[in-house]
Amino acid sequence: MSIIDTTTPAVPPVGPPAEAEPVGDGRPELWQAARTVLEANWSGRHTVPSRTLYPHQWSWDAAFIAIGLARVAPDRAWRDLRSLFLAQWPDGRIPHIVFDPGIAERDYFPGPGFWQVPLRRPGHPDGTGIVQPPAHALAVWELYQRAPDAAGLAQLRWFYPRLVAAQDYLLGRRDAGGGGLAAIVHPWESGLDNSPAWDAALAAVPADLRVLAGRQRHDNRVAAVAHRPTDEDYARFVALALAYRDHDYADDALADRHGFVVECPTFNALLGAAERALAAIAGVVGADPAGHLIRAERITRAIDERLWNPRTGMYHARDVRTGRLSPARCVNGLVPLILPDLPADRVAALVTMLGSDRFGMSAAMPVPSYDRRAADFDPVRYWRGPVWININWLLWRGLRAHGRAAQAEMLRTAMVDLVDRSGHYEYFHPVTGAGVGAAAFSWTAALLLDLLADGD
Ligand code: SER
Repeated sequence: MSIIDTTTPAVPPVGPPAEAEPVGDGRPELWQAARTVLEANWSGRHTVPSRTLYPHQWSWDAAFIAIGLARVAPDRAWRDLRSLFLAQWPDGRIPHIVFDPGIAERDYFPGPGFWQVPLRRPGHPDGTGIVQPPAHALAVWELYQRAPDAAGLAQLRWFYPRLVAAQDYLLGRRDAGGGGLAAIVHPWESGLDNSPAWDAALAAVPADLRVLAGRQRHDNRVAAVAHRPTDEDYARFVALALAYRDHDYADDALADRHGFVVECPTFNALLGAAERALAAIAGVVGADPAGHLIRAERITRAIDERLWNPRTGMYHARDVRTGRLSPARCVNGLVPLILPDLPADRVAALVTMLGSDRFGMSAAMPVPSYDRRAADFDPVRYWRGPVWININWLLWRGLRAHGRAAQAEMLRTAMVDLVDRSGHYEYFHPVTGAGVGAAAFSWTAALLLDLLADGD
């Protein structure tokens, strides 16, 4: 499979609204503000999540950004996703970051010099050697559904084998637990970097600050220190990344030799959702959907068998090395709601949990990233409490998939109101709603476009 793209067309700007564009659910200023964020974050070859904090391209960000761009600039949406897939490895993995060669090493840590990925060849962008949640098949199917024409079909044909290769990598090389789920080897792979879901597994990884000596965190120079992971977190993050790198990004015997090998409910729910999206895509491009549907069912069953905790009534991350479920109630344990074949009793339990005082979904506030009642709930520190729009967007889709239309609409409106009130922030204080982290954050703007268009 060639992964060099020679067919990419020129990319039109986001530009003024098209004639047939949605009007933004009665909030045209909010609609236009979201478009402006996306225009400002277009680097010329891809959309950056944030000009200040994340100046390259990120993997699952690219999927969410494409879903929103599809509402206003479909050509750019396709191009953006293609940019990510140009960095796909021969083994199928999609790097969690694709580096912009125009950005200096000092402007993001850890940059390409740290990752030393042995894949540098002309026409092939540099990336990292770790992955992120596989939201891309979902995005590709969404993009096609917005414009199911000949150009869209050509895009589906381009993406289909690449998406299959990415799934094969995760379901093959990354099934470190042997139970039919993909394991992550680094908290960065979850996208929920410092979630309490990883605390138990990370306790076995020394937080040796000496690993940061001679290395300079960039994030803390451009974002509030209290909003970001701690130095202890970063010491573990860096040590784990170095350990994986120094084994040449190999995936053999992970559970025996690597310090962090975990099955995440959200990562695997997206893996299952991807198989369903691939079944739909296969049906259009003339491939056989059956294998994808079988895989999707198996993943749902494996999530249920391996990650369900009957005492808490939700899913939890599983440490493959110890076989133990994380005790923390984190929002990643609610996202399996996106799976349409989730058993009805599990759906009912997750919906109850969403509305409970632990997560407190209401018309006034979307769902936080962590149990509000937990002693270490932190309303501003990244994934340890704040509200994130991408996770709430997935929960919204999940509620709809299970016929919970009224709750889905309440959540949609709560997200729109929050961004309208506070701006297109990276995340939000789960009590006051104040914007936290980076301003002008791409996936918040992109998914807002999708949410507003849905209300039209
Ligand atoms: N999310 C990480 C960061 O904050 C890396 O993927 O930079």
